[in-house]
Amino acid sequence: MIDKAVRPEIRSMTRPRHGGDVWNDLSVKDYSSNINPFGPPSMLGQYISEAAIDLHCYPDDSCTQLKDAIASHYETNVENIIVGAGSSELIRLFAEVFISRGDRVVMPSPTFSEYGFGCNLMGAELIEYTLPREQNFDLNVTDLSNQLSGAKAVYVCNPNNPTGRMTDKNDILRLIEEAARKETLVFLDETLLELSSRSSELSLVSEVENYENLFIIRSFTKSFAMPGIRVGYGFGSKEMINYLEAGRLTWNLGIIEQRVAIRLIEEEQDHVAAAVNMLDEEKLRMHSKVERLMGEVPMPDSYFFFAPLNHLGISSSEFRSAMLRHGVLVRDCSSFGNICSQYTRFCIKTPDKNDEFLDALSRAIDDIGEGRL
Ligand SMILES: Cc1ncc(COP(=O)(O)O)c(C=O)c1O
Repeated sequence: MIDKAVRPEIRSMTRPRHGGDVWNDLSVKDYSSNINPFGPPSMLGQYISEAAIDLHCYPDDSCTQLKDAIASHYETNVENIIVGAGSSELIRLFAEVFISRGDRVVMPSPTFSEYGFGCNLMGAELIEYTLPREQNFDLNVTDLSNQLSGAKAVYVCNPNNPTGRMTDKNDILRLIEEAARKETLVFLDETLLELSSRSSELSLVSEVENYENLFIIRSFTKSFAMPGIRVGYGFGSKEMINYLEAGRLTWNLGIIEQRVAIRLIEEEQDHVAAAVNMLDEEKLRMHSKVERLMGEVPMPDSYFFFAPLNHLGISSSEFRSAMLRHGVLVRDCSSFGNICSQYTRFCIKTPDKNDEFLDALSRAIDDIGEGRL
């Protein structure tokens, strides 16, 4: 009976896979998730305990103070902001509010799996735009725009997960304008941009009032290294935010999440800036060392490597296992599609942790060379 009762979209659904899966062995060193390498700010524990004093109350459903803090940080209006339990909630909400069964949705491939998951749940028809491998997976806005006819929405992740490639602001603006002409919504994910020194140059947050079809997500997860506390936020035109608010889950953010996020955005920007500077330096140092061990690897645009495994002659999942034997977790990219099964993804951290990574990499490569897989 239950098989008949379930929505057809759910029946065939498989859950998306992600990095950071350390729950089987918490001693493993996680390089598979891309978060601030300094960890959370040292005051986080105190912010949490101070936030916890009013837990007998329901949280503020409209998250007014948190929206004020975000608006003041980004110099935008509270009416342009929505907050969610992680940006993941907003990915889902956007699909629930705007995507109907049969809608065509254009999505680069490979990209972050939650977009497709949300759209599939709503019964959308996904149109894949394959990022050109021979051009380093750089998004070609003209090619993507050519696929927009009749599309309800197009998704762009900047920098893209898992490839790490960035797209210039003017190119994305061109896409938004073309999409507006075709009445297509643009979902732009900037959650990985915050730990990049190019964040303010590339961000389109200041443009949301100019484009009714644009929605942008960002998150506290990466900048403040706190995936365990779920806070994300989104920017859109007032009209778009009103519709998203209308469909949002009630009390989606708890009191702790709201209060901690306010403290972080108001008091811990130096923590983010220090990470951005260090990541830029470490990227250069790591790149030459990684290339020496793995063969040619593109210089990452962002703060994580998307490295081909062809020189090592093994698959993404075999490489993950080889690294795990030395206590290091990297991202098995095969869940991003066939094209990624010969790539691995790992993040850049502090100098000492990067040295630990390089040491494990060197030992794993010795194992592979000697057939110990
Ligand atoms: C590109 C991208 N967007 C969004 C998210 C969701 O992050 P969160 O829900 O923690 O804000 C992730 C998480 O890995 C991500 O990689």
